[in-house]
Amino acid sequence: ARIRGQLMDANERACAWFQEQLRKPDGAGAREYLAGRGLTPEIIAKFRIGFAPETGFLLRDALRGQFDEEVMRESGLFSWKQEGNQGEQGQKVAPLYGKFRNRIMFPICNDAGRVIAFTGRTLSTDEKSGPKYLNSPETPLYVKGRVLFNLDKAKEAIRQLGYAIVVEGQMDCISVYAAGFQNVIASSGTAFTDLQARLLARFTHNIVVNFDPDTAGAAATERTLALLLEEDFTIKVLSLEAGFDPDLYVRKKGVQAYATALKAAPRYFDYLIERAQMKFPVRTPEGKVKAINFLLPHIQRVPSRIARDELSNEISQKLGIDSAVLRQELKHAAANRGTKAVTAPAAMVVTEAERILIRALSMTHEMLGDYTSDRDGSEAPFDPCREARYALEQEPLQHGLGTESLINALLASEDVDVANLPVSESDRKVLAECLMNENEELTPELVEGALSALRRRHLERRQRELRGLIAEVERKGDSMALAQLLKEKLEVDRALARGASGSGV
Ligand code: UTP
Ligand code: MN
Repeated sequence: ARIRGQLMDANERACAWFQEQLRKPDGAGAREYLAGRGLTPEIIAKFRIGFAPETGFLLRDALRGQFDEEVMRESGLFSWKQEGNQGEQGQKVAPLYGKFRNRIMFPICNDAGRVIAFTGRTLSTDEKSGPKYLNSPETPLYVKGRVLFNLDKAKEAIRQLGYAIVVEGQMDCISVYAAGFQNVIASSGTAFTDLQARLLARFTHNIVVNFDPDTAGAAATERTLALLLEEDFTIKVLSLEAGFDPDLYVRKKGVQAYATALKAAPRYFDYLIERAQMKFPVRTPEGKVKAINFLLPHIQRVPSRIARDELSNEISQKLGIDSAVLRQELKHAAANRGTKAVTAPAAMVVTEAERILIRALSMTHEMLGDYTSDRDGSEAPFDPCREARYALEQEPLQHGLGTESLINALLASEDVDVANLPVSESDRKVLAECLMNENEELTPELVEGALSALRRRHLERRQRELRGLIAEVERKGDSMALAQLLKEKLEVDRALARGASGSGV
């Protein structure tokens, strides 16, 4: 505890010293740089921005005498050469020098506003002078994953406004703050930890993230958003036009433009749905499946069941997925949080005719009510389900491998809510896929067309089988069986010749 207090003091002292260096003649270049980036003296003072000169011994000399050697070493402000000079008892005796050299110094404060670390932006364009932004190493005071840059200055505004703006960079944060949006904090270019999420949660559960979730830092962003979803944050996404970071945007486009963009920021899920609509051809069943699979993992992260259900309903609507089965799929996936998303059903296995037939068979009387309500009631309304069921009961057909068991299950369970149909996982996926194009009306022509296509396929398959069987019994010389098979083949040939339209097998 004693060392923590001393480390606080050392950081505070260093902060004041960096500020002092900025005001000195040697700080002219740094002052110019800051002015060039649009930072006023007020903002520079507010954020206690300073300057670390090129010479690394000055800070050491300034702090020496005020702090123990141990505190100096633990402060994170200094480096020293490791080689050789290990003194007695393994003590390091190499001389200390400032870690931050020729950098603009931004203090990092805890949420009480005490300086606990620094981040220094280089003024050099030479890559050999280290990374663009250099942070203090972790110390007993400074644990990266526990600090949010600017939370100390933003927390009141966050409470008052009811939300926080989260940007990536310190400069973004300072510019946005300077433009009058005081509820802004920075993630400092790394993924949020759960401690950071909980720290922020003390002030709000509403955030607008203003970094592009699509860009290079995507992995960190993705993790941050996933975590915040899991921690029950309500997230909006502000994506600025390409080439602009928040800092550039407020300075080039102005405060008003930023305020407008902020207000228009879509909810995270609307943003995701929009992305799904851009990425996938969501008018086709396959596209819808892809879109859903893209969205599912995100939905699964939402901890509230009610919120997940609402989301799935919304997504169903927006993607034109109207069936109970798909809603079920979304809810099912949502319920199984943490498990993998559904894999796309084998789209190629299901023919168009099968799809129509399966849709027809899965219509309940309840759905049918809607379905036929806008027809004039003078005649008996067309009932696609009854039509298909009747046809198949009259004339059982062989179906493809991908649909056989599903169609049988549908035939066996009349007027069962398809969402609860007792079928395998893979059949459920096929079913979901078949039900996607819900807006397409099942006209008598469509259903009849599908039935005759399936009859034709059935007959063609039987025709091939019969050819094989006939060759076989001819070889064996079984004339009775041969006669029987030839008779059937004649019927099949005729039916196919008639266009497989009637039920005349
Ligand atoms: P950027 O490279 O996007 O920089 O890093 P920036 O914020 O726009 O900086 P300016 O405008 O050139 O000054 C985004 C954030 O990632 C972290 C910093 O927090 C930075 O603000 N970062 C970046 C580092 O920690 N180290 C680096 O070397 C670079
Ligand atoms: Mn920038």
